[in-house]
Amino acid sequence: MATLDSQPRSRLIAALDIGTTKVCAVMAQVDEAGQLNLLGVGRASSTGMRKGLVVNVKETITAIEKAVEEAEAQADVSMDGVYVALSGEQIRSMNNTGVITVSREEPRVPHIQEITSEDVERVLEQAKAITLPADREILHVLPQEFKVDQHEGIKAPLGHIGHRLEARVHLVTIDEPTAQNIIRCVEAAGLFVEALVLAPLASATAVLEQTEKDQGVVLIDMGAGTTELMVYYDGGVRHTAVIPYGGNRVTNDIAQILHTTFDKAEELKKEYGYAKFPATVEDNEITIEGIAGRQAQTTTRRGLSAIIEPRLEEILTLCRNEVRKSDVSEKLTFGVVLTGGGVLIKEMEEKAGEVFNADIKIGYPLHVHGLEEMVSSPEYATAIGLLVYGHEYEETHGITKRPGGIMTFLRSLGQHIKNFFKELF
Ligand SMILES: Nc1ncnc2c1ncn2[C@@H]1O[C@H](COP(=O)(O)OP(=O)(O)OP(=O)(O)O)[C@@H](O)[C@H]1O
Ligand SMILES: [Mg+2]
Repeated sequence: MATLDSQPRSRLIAALDIGTTKVCAVMAQVDEAGQLNLLGVGRASSTGMRKGLVVNVKETITAIEKAVEEAEAQADVSMDGVYVALSGEQIRSMNNTGVITVSREEPRVPHIQEITSEDVERVLEQAKAITLPADREILHVLPQEFKVDQHEGIKAPLGHIGHRLEARVHLVTIDEPTAQNIIRCVEAAGLFVEALVLAPLASATAVLEQTEKDQGVVLIDMGAGTTELMVYYDGGVRHTAVIPYGGNRVTNDIAQILHTTFDKAEELKKEYGYAKFPATVEDNEITIEGIAGRQAQTTTRRGLSAIIEPRLEEILTLCRNEVRKSDVSEKLTFGVVLTGGGVLIKEMEEKAGEVFNADIKIGYPLHVHGLEEMVSSPEYATAIGLLVYGHEYEETHGITKRPGGIMTFLRSLGQHIKNFFKELF
């Protein structure tokens, strides 16, 4: 097997989505045209994660190793640096503003005050200057727009003339111990973390088109343990939220009500379950074998859907309430894009349409080529999005191979963000 050292490093990108049900490892090669070609996909059952938190370190490491081995075997290349997704209830986000007076030293043209990259960097530094508890770090600073003197809606302020520069940003923060636990598992599996990326941001990168982000859209990623959402408008992120329930909640309801195992309930949900039972579908009886000597039971497809529907409605309503907290909820031209494995249930679009009263679409991963049949499901949105994010990131910053311990990484996170600003404009 080749190592990355024998390959041009810039040509390979690898990613890990460590979810509640699955760990997914993916590798891609960037070709001369700048296109991402998928080389390997590995998947392992995940038992050591719950709602974005590592609850069993050993099991998480084993699952990472298994998924990575599978991807490496298919790609015939070994991984070292990986982009890793983060999610969970510990994520916090807020919108913030930074304001500076444009520097007056040595203008390029006398008396013309042009905004320089240092000004942009300073204003973004200002915008992220918030007081954080000791164990929190800023994960992402996502610029929304800039204002130069009285002119609003500026996307790239570099070169504009003005005295006062304002930046509006969306900040995402993480809990450091949670991030450290994930980094530790990845490192114990013999890899190092290139960057941590908010899972729904990665998913959005995979499934949304720029026009959707510009004219307004909600991205909902329903996984097993959590459902995450991001509201986009005018090209920027306006709101982020994590709902602490996902598809597992629905499966648990089925298991409890029908007195069966989680695995059997999962099987019933996938085979017979509907998010909203359609009038046109013929109902029929389902027999569920008794567990541990209990009598077999019967239900119907409609009966099963009557368990599923209220729980999904609850999760979607929580999402809708979060969208309403954003100041752009009335302006979202492209409604809602649903992704993640949890949206694969039959008639999900129908149910979401009822709750949101908006345009609904299922989001499939875009922007990669090769092995499409392996990753065409919404379950792979986060993993594929990490590759696309990593590719865009490396295009902008060049490659920063950063082996080293956890603390090295966390210390470098701040510097990384700083460099990001520098390169962005
Ligand atoms: N065909 C299907 N019908 C209904 N539900 C499905 C189907 N396929 C997958 N799911 C559900 O999708 C969920 C898993 O989705 P996904 O793989 O996106 O989760 P994850 O990334 O492992 O979890 P998380 O993002 O919460 O950490 C499970 O709850 C599973 O029951
Ligand atoms: Mg997920």
